[in-house]
Amino acid sequence: MMTRTFHIPGHVAIIMDGNGRWASARALPRFEGHREGAKAVRRAAEAAIRLGIQTLTLYAFSSDNWKRPKAEVSALLLLFRHYLLTEIEECRRQGIRLSIIGRRDRLPGDLIPLIESAEGETAPGSRLHLRLAVDYSSRDAILNAARNARTREEFTAVLGPDVDLLIRTAGEQRLSDFLLWECAYAEMVFLPLPWPDFGEQSLREALAAYGRRVRKFGALPEATAGRALEYASS
Ligand code: IPE
Ligand code: IPE
Ligand code: MG
Repeated sequence: MMTRTFHIPGHVAIIMDGNGRWASARALPRFEGHREGAKAVRRAAEAAIRLGIQTLTLYAFSSDNWKRPKAEVSALLLLFRHYLLTEIEECRRQGIRLSIIGRRDRLPGDLIPLIESAEGETAPGSRLHLRLAVDYSSRDAILNAARNARTREEFTAVLGPDVDLLIRTAGEQRLSDFLLWECAYAEMVFLPLPWPDFGEQSLREALAAYGRRVRKFGALPEATAGRALEYASS
């Protein structure tokens, strides 16, 4: 039995960064870093289930990543195809519902039926909602939402739930066009390790940091709020 000493965030999002640096540090081609990074995706999903996280959104390929050399883009898409072909059965077995967020019209045509069947086959999964962001730009997602949604609630319905905890690996401290709307009140944790080294311990570390934060959403923490009231009425 796991003892919960801190509040578990419902929605965790991760910017999986540092695959290239992981490979360079070992004098390997960048592709090897991406391959190793794909293995960390499974570890993160399994750890998320064990820790009781409901939704995990992972940044796999940004719309700006098309700017990378063709060979690297092809390698990343190849890994994504491989993931869809090999991990779906395991997702189903583990009760993981898989969704792919981002644009689909620029992906290789043969990926579309694979994405659709992966989403269809894992739809009943209720232990973890795993959202993989591919050809994803938060600015584009917000622009699209704005075409139909008019209220905050409608935006949330189109874009997805607010992020409670945003993790970025490999030390960089920026959002790189990821979940800009959804992170309005997210707690951010930046881990120094590169994504291929990420495991359950890293997630626990980030959750522990999250547990030490005081989330106020613009209000006052409860203890202080009581005192403020006393002061106002005295
Ligand atoms: C993250 O690792 C994976 C993708 C962006 C697809 P990087 O490839 O950005 O690795 P670094 O930042 O160059 O080390
Ligand atoms: C963000 O990482 C995209 C993903 C992790 C998929 P990048 O490595 O592409 O971001 P920048 O260029 O460092 O901001
Ligand atoms: Mg990077």
